[in-house]
Amino acid sequence: MKYFYLLFLFAASLQVSFGCTLDCSQVTCAQSFNPFDCPSNTLYSNTAALCGCCPGCVRLKGPNEECQSNTKLTFDVTNFYTVKGSIILNATDVPPVVASQECAPGLTCDNSRCSNSKYTCTTPDISNSKWSPECDIDGSHKAVQCKSNGADPRCFCYSKEGKRIFGSDWNTKEKRDKMKCQCARLVDNLKKNQEKDGYKNNDLTYHCSSNGNFEPLQCNRGMCYCANTQTGQPVSFVVNAQMWKTLPCYNATTMGFVYLKICDSRANALALIKKEMRYHGGNPITLAAPQCDPDGSFYAKQCDGNQCYCRSQQQEAPDKNKLLCSGDREKGGE
Ligand SMILES: *[C@@H]1O[C@H](CO)[C@@H](O)[C@H](O)[C@H]1NC(C)=O
Ligand SMILES: *[C@@H]1O[C@H](CO)[C@@H](O)[C@H](O)[C@H]1NC(C)=O
Repeated sequence: MKYFYLLFLFAASLQVSFGCTLDCSQVTCAQSFNPFDCPSNTLYSNTAALCGCCPGCVRLKGPNEECQSNTKLTFDVTNFYTVKGSIILNATDVPPVVASQECAPGLTCDNSRCSNSKYTCTTPDISNSKWSPECDIDGSHKAVQCKSNGADPRCFCYSKEGKRIFGSDWNTKEKRDKMKCQCARLVDNLKKNQEKDGYKNNDLTYHCSSNGNFEPLQCNRGMCYCANTQTGQPVSFVVNAQMWKTLPCYNATTMGFVYLKICDSRANALALIKKEMRYHGGNPITLAAPQCDPDGSFYAKQCDGNQCYCRSQQQEAPDKNKLLCSGDREKGGE
């Protein structure tokens, strides 16, 4: 008797997190929504809906909320790429949203409460009373932050830490809905990781559009494919780089005849040279690669050792820390 009671308890605790128990091999999932259709403050999961058998969106617990455990889901741009299954091009459904008792990624469940966030997004911003940023469930800044007041209503891409990164567009409903900033965040993360690993992998490039989304055609390490502009997932066959014009997403008007933009191709060539030199034991430090924006254009401020200049103004400045270029995001320029 006691045995059955325990079994019942076990089933009841599962019910809290998944709603029920089912043999997933008996379940067929008819999915007609995409990961990026998940509503604000939810995360896509392959095992969210129908007793954990089918994809859906999970609503996790935020800082200081009551919880039961930690989640295995990751809450960053890579979450999109780990999604199994392809993009559904004519998706029509609203995804199912399942409430979970787990803390959002990055938070830990201690004494039935999710911990404080390591991020500092607050509404309104403590350090800038004029700005009310949009915060994600883990206490970080949302990727897209829109400003509506003034004559310049625009949306910008932000890192989780609240730093403005590459990517912006006008704040209209249509543009705002399209803008996901996942490419901008991916490139920002890649850059941070490349700094950490001493630029051993800086031949890896993603191309972002000016609004921070992925460009529809991506080439990486000698291979090209058409990508979903919001998630970067491949939506076509993959071809050798020389064959990039045969891809269905190639457009001669907008893409021209060379894949790499001027800045990119210079940076890429130098990255390859450095790789070769490192391989042959040469000293690669003497070569300074140009700093490119994720859309392949030159970054507003270019630095070579201790010498910096603004590209638009072609102005040399002896002290790189004092130089402020228009378009220099890190210094707050627009
Ligand atoms: C998507 O479109 C294809 C072809 O137009 C069709 O066969 C398929 O059933 C559609 N899928 C959904 C989920 O509507
Ligand atoms: C290429 O892009 C231009 C500009 O966006 C567009 O007008 C044109 O229809 C596109 N061509 C093809 C073949 O898709």
